[in-house]
Amino acid sequence: MLILGIESSCDETGAAIIYGNNKTAKVKLLSNSLATSLNIHAKSGGIIPENAAREQIKFIIPVIKEALAKAKLNINDIDKIAVTYGPGLIGSLLVGVETAKTLSYVYNKPLIPTNHLYGHFYANFIDEGDKREIIFPAIALVVSGGHTDLVLVKKHGEIKWLGGTRDDAAGEALDKIGRLLDLPYPGGPNIEKKAQIGDPKKYNLPKPLIGSKDFDFSFSGLKTAVLREVKDKKLSEQQVADFCACVQKSIVDVISKKTLNAVKKHNAKSVLLGGGVAANAALRNQLEATINSFDPSINFFVPSKILCTDNGAMIAAAAFYNDKSFKFNEVDANPNLYF
Ligand code: KG4
Ligand code: ZN
Repeated sequence: MLILGIESSCDETGAAIIYGNNKTAKVKLLSNSLATSLNIHAKSGGIIPENAAREQIKFIIPVIKEALAKAKLNINDIDKIAVTYGPGLIGSLLVGVETAKTLSYVYNKPLIPTNHLYGHFYANFIDEGDKREIIFPAIALVVSGGHTDLVLVKKHGEIKWLGGTRDDAAGEALDKIGRLLDLPYPGGPNIEKKAQIGDPKKYNLPKPLIGSKDFDFSFSGLKTAVLREVKDKKLSEQQVADFCACVQKSIVDVISKKTLNAVKKHNAKSVLLGGGVAANAALRNQLEATINSFDPSINFFVPSKILCTDNGAMIAAAAFYNDKSFKFNEVDANPNLYF
């Protein structure tokens, strides 16, 4: 089955084509096309939703055309169209959803409305050369700009939410702390870069909820702690790097501990990491080491960085394994969708 996946929930416009024929194997990625309005948001220091939606309108058709051209396919060759219908910014979401609905109507293709959060961990089901099988039950961890969620995946289509952030998501906290440290938007990748020369033991920052028995997260206190330390101070380059290393360490320690707790409680056989913050090397490495040292037979999966941040391929993959098709007039954007 050939699926065209369309993603437009925030500031990235993605379209990709995957081929899948067997739900016990991974899907093949035939093309993955992406445009981003990140440079505009870097200038404004954060995303202004209306600007993001306007850029989506510019990019959506060229990105879909490029995905088809790269895969050497015509829209008529596609079996189904998958589209992110939530969660996300309503203006941005509408661009992808209405485009997908139009294509579905004109070319008579079934539509698979897909949850963006599923997409993030289903990126692990895209064949990138790793021959290991993803065995259930799996613990999936979605760490992105808007979400920090732990879920139990018993099998395809049977998912139980275990816990999530009570306030700021990990990515949101990194972006806000980046701003406090005068780093360009988005904070996440810039904090990672600076952290490489920073001392993670320099400042005593909180690791919120690290000892709690639930699977909840809370990162707004970390941001407040940094604010308290840096307010009205002129920081040296080294001090900024030290704060970056400490902030990253706090977030990675909390996430690794909570994920391990979830793995233990639910006897998970695999761990699936996904979302923009999963592009962070410290998180990828520490989480893998934590899981491995607990039980080396548990397989840890994380997609390549380009499949961690928003893209159409993850949406097509999630749709393949959770294939519920609708007619074009039965699908609507839902910005508040959750697990
Ligand atoms: O998944 P994503 O592309 O969009 C959402 O669905 O939110 O995630 C974007 C988030 C931003 O907060 C960004 O700062 C963070 O992912 N991010 C990173 C890195 N790359 C992106 N955070 C830490 N380290 C990175 N290398
Ligand atoms: Zn995302």
